Amino acid sequence: MPGEVLLETRGLTKDFGGLRAVDRVDLRVEAGTIHALIGPNGAGKSTLFNLIGGSLRPTAGRIFYRGRDITDLPPHRRAHLGIGRAYQLIHVFPSLSVLENVRLAAQALGSDNFCFWVPAARLQRYLDQAWAVLHEIGMAELADLPARALPHGHRRWLEIAMLLAQEPQLMLLDEPAAGMALDQIPRLIRLIEEIHRRGGRTILLIEHKIDLAMRLAHRVTVLHHGRVLAEGTPEEIARNEAVQQAYLGERAWTPSSN
Ligand SMILES: Nc1ncnc2c1ncn2[C@@H]1O[C@H](COP(=O)(O)OP(=O)(O)O)[C@@H](O)[C@H]1O
Ligand SMILES: [Mg+2]
Repeated sequence: MPGEVLLETRGLTKDFGGLRAVDRVDLRVEAGTIHALIGPNGAGKSTLFNLIGGSLRPTAGRIFYRGRDITDLPPHRRAHLGIGRAYQLIHVFPSLSVLENVRLAAQALGSDNFCFWVPAARLQRYLDQAWAVLHEIGMAELADLPARALPHGHRRWLEIAMLLAQEPQLMLLDEPAAGMALDQIPRLIRLIEEIHRRGGRTILLIEHKIDLAMRLAHRVTVLHHGRVLAEGTPEEIARNEAVQQAYLGERAWTPSSN
């Protein structure tokens, strides 16, 4: 439904000791959009993702998904509702093949994740799903390679493949271009556009590279010192004086950007 708010945070706040990393954030992500979250290093972007995914509990505020209050749900319950968070590399089994890793990601959200005996037909379904995803993202020829043998840039692709295998409605991508060779970035952009267009998925994307976020996103929210500094279309954000200042300040004080 166009205009439907899929994800909403109200007054979301996270303190780490005396540091307020996320400060009363009101975020509304509309269904079917690509929504970018940008901001200088340390702005609180990843912390906000961790709150949405459920790996961190907020100090204050609430989170709603399809109008339902999910603030107190553990991460796996949120995943079952359709909130998909890109795997950190720690979840990748290095000695298993690329295909096996993607199959396990698909299976993890199926009902068989704790069963020793899984009916063969269902295993086959997870395997088919894994193949389909690997074809979709152009990794089929790497399917039999052990995950540990993947070149560094390809590990990000594996993470995205594992996320896609879970068929989330809301995809949370935290700096998917980080660690990728520059010549792979156009392919990443095409893939994200393709995932969005074909699957009708909603994508919440953290991106440090502003130009990438601006190219992909329908809406952009800018975080600075844990607060929402600005929210709007990419054109509005590009013209925003306060946003330019925030990024200029970063360039002056944190030359080692990543
Ligand atoms: N687990 C943690 N414990 C203490 N401080 C943290 C923790 N995670 C993040 N921070 C701090 O919170 C602030 C926001 O960090 P983060 O959300 O990673 O920012 P971003 O992703 O925008 O670069 C930073 O000052 C960071 O040092
Ligand atoms: Mg971060």
